[in-house]
Amino acid sequence: MFIMQRKKVLVITAITAVSALMVLSFKPIDQQQEPKKLKNIKVYPATATYKEVDRAMDVFKADLGVHCDYCHAHSKENPKKMDMASDENPIKDITRDMMRMTDEMNKKYIGNIPHADTVKVQMVTCKTCHRGAPKPFGQPPVYPKFPGPPPAGNQPPLPPHDK
Ligand code: HEC
Ligand code: HEC
Repeated sequence: MFIMQRKKVLVITAITAVSALMVLSFKPIDQQQEPKKLKNIKVYPATATYKEVDRAMDVFKADLGVHCDYCHAHSKENPKKMDMASDENPIKDITRDMMRMTDEMNKKYIGNIPHADTVKVQMVTCKTCHRGAPKPFGQPPVYPKFPGPPPAGNQPPLPPHDK
């Protein structure tokens, strides 16, 4: 009888100890790992977080109708995995220029449209042009060239002034 009770006490103690350990070692999921760090960012501001960049990537994917590996390279060690920080895929740098271009269009031109009368000026995004395709227009469109300065070194003579 006494032995039985001692066994019971032992078992209960063991269960209590294990549960206590489980409770002590439990941490909410977001504290278990360090937040992921960005490794090779050249266009997004230094303040951008991994989460924000990751969310922006889903938008790129949708706006161009492509998968992540259209712009990103596969890992050299394990080709089944992606190496998002690598610049091996040349499309990634083309995209960086596209980001700079889009930003400049908005800052320099679109953002300057006076909009005191309406809500908010509509900014240019990747989707404005791409609309679900990496090559937005298929065939190059045919339209009259913008009047602008001709390429340097190839200037036609100025038309005569009548004065
Ligand atoms: C249209 C091209 C494009 C697509 C599609 C794309 N990415 Fe990116 N991604 C980029 C570019 C460009 C950068 C670097 C931005 C910079 O330099 O500021 C980048 C950066 C990243 C980074 C940061 C890597 C680091 O640590 O430096 C991650 C993570 C990432 N992409 C994940 C993804 C995922 C996941 C997908 C698919 C859902 C995806 N990307 C789709 C172009 C793309
Ligand atoms: C003003 C229109 C416009 C905007 C805005 C724009 N693009 Fe583009 N993009 C183009 C055109 C035009 C091409 C050239 C397609 C070709 O090679 O014939 C192109 C090419 C690309 C390519 C290369 C495709 C390939 O297979 O060679 C990528 C990637 C790309 N854009 C991503 C983006 C992303 C991401 C954004 C937003 C940050 C963006 N673009 C914004 C017009 C635009």
